[in-house]
Amino acid sequence: MQFKNVFLGRRSIRRYQDKEVPLSVIAEVLDLAGYAPSSGNLQNWKFIIVTDKEKKQELADACLQQSWMSEAPVHIVICNDHEDVKTHYGKLGRMYSIQNCANVAMGIMLAAYDQGLGSCWVGSFDNEAVQRILSIPEEMDPEIILTIGYSEETKTPSLREDPRDITYFNKWGEKTSFFPSHLEQLKKKIKRK
Ligand SMILES: Cc1cc2nc3c(=O)[nH]c(=O)nc-3n(C[C@H](O)[C@H](O)[C@H](O)COP(=O)(O)O)c2cc1C
Repeated sequence: MQFKNVFLGRRSIRRYQDKEVPLSVIAEVLDLAGYAPSSGNLQNWKFIIVTDKEKKQELADACLQQSWMSEAPVHIVICNDHEDVKTHYGKLGRMYSIQNCANVAMGIMLAAYDQGLGSCWVGSFDNEAVQRILSIPEEMDPEIILTIGYSEETKTPSLREDPRDITYFNKWGEKTSFFPSHLEQLKKKIKRK
């Protein structure tokens, strides 16, 4: 799939088909996502793939009762193994470690979409509950949960800020007249809906 179509086509999917996702496909997605950039190439992420029905239900409860999550065939819990990053970068380490996990999460979502899979990023959860459910060691932070599966909904791109309104040149507040839009037609179409 063309990169542009992957980027525009990915949407948060919260309804899934009752169809198993082959582990080999998840493996390919994680292989690719691992090429995300990370500070000092420390790659401070660990993944827990959850397919067990009961555990998915418990995770959905721990995510402030987001019950739709339990219908997703796969949850991928991205754990932040932050110790090394903190050792390398001191005060900045905590922030870097989270940014690194966010990068790999985005990579997973895009690679999954390229494989015909829908996904959703879930960020609101009770950390300790997730640690308990999956026996995650205390020094490891569950950072992001991604639901993955074949989509049961059809979504088109949603409206986004126009870069022309939020981009400055050389200093804060400075605009330029030449900054062409490459998504003009798409934006008009979204607005008409
Ligand atoms: C840090 C972060 C936390 C999020 N947490 C949740 C969440 O807990 N539950 C949920 O349904 N969606 C969550 N989302 C998904 C956003 O709602 C979604 O990405 C946004 O509305 C844009 O829609 P799109 O992904 O379809 O383009 C989260 C996204 C991010 C990046």
